[in-house]
Order: sequence, then structure tokens, then C-alpha cells
Amino acid sequence: MHVSLRQLKVFEAVARHLSYTRAAEELHLSQPAVSMQVRQLEEEAGLPLFERLGNRILLTEAGREVYDYGRTINSALQEMEEVLESLKGVSRGRLHLAVASTVNYFAPRLLAIFQQRYPGIGLQLDVTNREQLVRMLYDNAVDLVLMGVPPTDMEVESEAFMENPLVVIAPPDHPLAHARAISPARLVDEVFVMREPGSGTRQTMERFFGERGLTIRHGMQMTRNEAVKQAVRSGLGLSVVSLHTIELELETRRLVTLDVEGFPDRRQWYLVSRRGKRLSPAANAFREFVLTEAALIAPPIFLEAGATLSHMPSPGR
Ligand code: PGA
Repeated sequence: MHVSLRQLKVFEAVARHLSYTRAAEELHLSQPAVSMQVRQLEEEAGLPLFERLGNRILLTEAGREVYDYGRTINSALQEMEEVLESLKGVSRGRLHLAVASTVNYFAPRLLAIFQQRYPGIGLQLDVTNREQLVRMLYDNAVDLVLMGVPPTDMEVESEAFMENPLVVIAPPDHPLAHARAISPARLVDEVFVMREPGSGTRQTMERFFGERGLTIRHGMQMTRNEAVKQAVRSGLGLSVVSLHTIELELETRRLVTLDVEGFPDRRQWYLVSRRGKRLSPAANAFREFVLTEAALIAPPIFLEAGATLSHMPSPGR
């Protein structure tokens, strides 16, 4: 049998999504290219791997066998890569990181220092929302992830490394800008600019109000923190964002944080990897670096009512 790794990879994606279209999207291929790879694999196998049921596709028995073997081959390849990485040692390794779009407000600062310290390490950084990060962990497609809400339905190691305070933001001329101890219930009269459903920030915000039995009014939905901030500045509503994303706007007074009871909602940033994953020396070095130094290099800053920029007071102080 002449089966190529590429055919197996394409087949695995189609079998996982049970959709040629979604597999094509994930692999950045055209749908005919995906169909062709699957057809070639079926020819090699001498059996159909998918069957059609109406407009759905299902795996045949042969398809399920190929899927299982494909996963075994894939994890052996992954293991080989990990072993080779560890033989290269920390000075020549490669490191694939993925971070939440919100983390990207401070990730470049960390990476710049890390890269200076280990100039031989080849770094790859993906920036995306929580939902995609969870998928990357699930697919074992990344060494380490920095995110705000680690998955609970998957075996992962997650270690908190820095505070992630979430705050309610408003334009400086908002009627509540100078109000003190605003009750969260008061905010149901306001409209909120929302992040997309896959966002960890949105999930945390919905949990905050949900736990208090409150339903907030959704206004516009935006997939980027930058767009959310612009919308709030333009008076399209309030929003909840990580303090890390608004350093500049607080400094220049383009946005203010509202004094809402329960806020800042003191969350944490987490360093996450799949449980049991063998971390390469490069990944281990990065893990050490983040756990010991991130909070010193990029702590959240908080603008008190007095308008001076200061470090966020910790709850104990
Ligand atoms: P996100 O990031 O809102 O961009 O998903 C924050 C998080 O992971 O909690």
C-alpha cells in the first residue's frame, strides 16, 4: 500500500469534522483537493472509507479502522518530533505558543526578553480566541498556551502566573463615570458591546452577571478587543475587558473604568499544556520564565480615581 502522511492527515480532518468543507477550511485547502486526497486513500485501501446518508457523511467500518491507525501514526510522529526536539536541547529548540488575543497585549514583551535570553530557539506564536486555543490543545497542535479560562473537559495542566483583572469600561463622559459603588443590577439598563461567543472574556463576563441572576443587554458584537474599545469610546455601550488591554486608553483618559461592585473581577492568566505531554527543553525554559517572571515584567496596571498610573493593588495589601 502506498499511503502518504498527507492523505492520512486530510482523511483525519474529514473524519473528525465529518465534513469535507470544514476539513478544507481547517487545512486551508480547496474542497476538490480534499476530496481527491480521500479518493486516493480509498483507492489504496480498496474500500470506501465514507458513506453518504442524505447530506451527511459517516465513516464506514474500514474508515473507522483507518481513523484509529491514523491517530496512532500521528501520535508516534508527534512523539518522534518531541524526542528530536529534546535532543536539540534548549539552545536550538523550537517552541510553538498560542495565546489568547487578550494575552497578546503583553505577550510580545515577554517573548522579546525570552528570545534575547535564548536566541537559538525558533519561536512560533499564534494569536486567537479561547475557543480556537482549546481546539489547538485538543489537537496537540501546540506546546504551550496562555489563556484566561483553561478547558475543564480535557486533561490539561494549568498553572496561574499573573492576575487578569476584568473591568467595566465606559467613555469618560458616561453618566456613571463618577458614580461610586455601582450595583451590578444597575447595569441591566445599559447596553453592552460584546466579544464573539468563542471569547474567554465574554464567557467570564456572562458568568459574572449570570451568577447574580442578571441578564445584560447585548449591543454590537465584535471579534477584536480593539474594536470593542473603539465602540465603547464612540458611545455604543459599556463593555467588560481585561485591564491588560486598556493600558494606553486609561493613560490618555480615552476610556474610564466604572466602579461597579464585584469589579475588578480578579481572574488569573494560566499557562496550559496537555496533561502527559512531554515538554521540550525549549518549552520547559519558557514555562519557567513565565511562572517566575511574567508578573514582574508585565503586571496589570490600574488607574485609580486620582488619575495616576499605579500597579494594581493585590487583595492582601
Ligand atoms: P479572549 O481571551 O477573550 O480573547 O478569548 C481571554 C481568555 O482566554 O480568557
